Amino acid sequence: MDMRTVTLIQGDGIGQEICQSVIDVFAAAKVPVQWEMAIAGLEAIEKFGNGVPPETLESIKRNTVALKGPTTTPIAGGHKSVNVTIRKALELYANVRLAKSMPAVETRFSNVDVLIVRENIEDTYSGIEHMQTPNVAQCLKLITRQGSMAAIRYAFEEARKLGRKKVTCVHKANIHKISDGLFLNVFREVATEYPEIEANDIIVDNCCMQLVSRPEQFDVLVLPNLYGDIVSDLCAGIVGGLGVAPGGNIGRDCAVFEAVHGSAPDIAGKGLANPTAILLSSVQMLQYMGLIGYASAIQNALESALADGVKTRDLGGTASTSEFTAGIIARLNLDGAESNVVPARDGAAKEPTMISEDWELIGCDVFVENHGLPQMPEKIGPFTLRLISNRGTKVWPGATPDIMLVDHFRNRYVADTSVTRQDVLALLQELTAMGKHWCHVELLNQVAGEPRYSKAQGE
Ligand code: NAI
Repeated sequence: MDMRTVTLIQGDGIGQEICQSVIDVFAAAKVPVQWEMAIAGLEAIEKFGNGVPPETLESIKRNTVALKGPTTTPIAGGHKSVNVTIRKALELYANVRLAKSMPAVETRFSNVDVLIVRENIEDTYSGIEHMQTPNVAQCLKLITRQGSMAAIRYAFEEARKLGRKKVTCVHKANIHKISDGLFLNVFREVATEYPEIEANDIIVDNCCMQLVSRPEQFDVLVLPNLYGDIVSDLCAGIVGGLGVAPGGNIGRDCAVFEAVHGSAPDIAGKGLANPTAILLSSVQMLQYMGLIGYASAIQNALESALADGVKTRDLGGTASTSEFTAGIIARLNLDGAESNVVPARDGAAKEPTMISEDWELIGCDVFVENHGLPQMPEKIGPFTLRLISNRGTKVWPGATPDIMLVDHFRNRYVADTSVTRQDVLALLQELTAMGKHWCHVELLNQVAGEPRYSKAQGE
């Protein structure tokens, strides 16, 4: 079998000790992988003044797969997190985490085996935030067709490759009808390409409740960024915490796998580090590369070592990092490892499709800063004031409900016919001339009478 080159970033603290365990297990299992060493973290900062030198990014791009140990983020000095730098530089659009019950890792459940695929770039994590008034903060939640499609397609591809049976879309589309609604619609669209895999969806709050009561019902979960962030840690918790949680960040052209835990400076260099999480990350990496047989052999050996009581101190055992590694190597069964190989990323890199629609502009929402209900003109040019809302609740026309009002009112101006951006500008000019303190504007579009915006509560 052809040797493949993988970039290895050992990282800081316990990084070198736990990466040595992967190097030794791969060598013993005769995995057709050779390592190309690259640096990131404290060593790179000391040598180059940069936590992620360009050579390291080049190495990952060249080899397309990397395994990374934990890196320390210095609190002082303004150094950016190595992980965030790598994720952004390589556009790693999906985060993948395996939550699997492990023998000897004591938890309430013994039957969890969930793969969590989280969209990794957009949602509220695009970091587009503005104060609207001194009292009102706004964060834009951007869900895109392409971003959702990339993560969702990856989830189905992994399910197919690993013989998993079901992919569940986790969302809050009952409330976020448009943004999470788009994620759910894309999920349903992609699901039709994978008829052999069951596809269903669940609201995120119910999902959390089900995960902590009957986690065995879930197989693969796919989520937008924010829910994914929270639910993946919840899943780590039900299988024994972040200490044993593996993960990977997947991009269109490359992928970086790493343990979820940090560099554990308190135990570094003492031979106490538990390599389970990085070994499981390397298992995920082999699955990504299509080397399914080797991945299973290593995972089985790791599980049987733990089941036989070979464990490090953090799991209540007495084995050192190297004794634990030797325990895994002694239990490796390589029968069939070489033969179970599937093509890596078959179809996953397919270009997300974009759609176009003929949008008709019919109005705008003008957000105005005001203390108390603002006096707004009911007619301006082609526009009629349809409603005023405060934090999404209608406060005009009709009696203003007895609610706490903040200094941020949305005024919905709608025309009977199509309007232009010029009409909207004229409206804003007139409101400006009247001294209205507008702070934010959204256009209202429709397609064949179907609005491309949400209705206010009570509208
Ligand atoms: P940490 O995960 O390094 O340590 C928390 C506790 O868990 C410590 O008591 C540690 O000894 C223990 N621990 C962690 N991994 C272990 C392992 N494999 N075996 C045995 N015990 C283990 O979290 P902490 O202390 O908050 O962060 C330390 C440094 O790591 C910080 O500089 C932080 O920025 C960085 N970090 C890096 C991450 C990454 O590169 N992916 C992720 C999280 C933190």
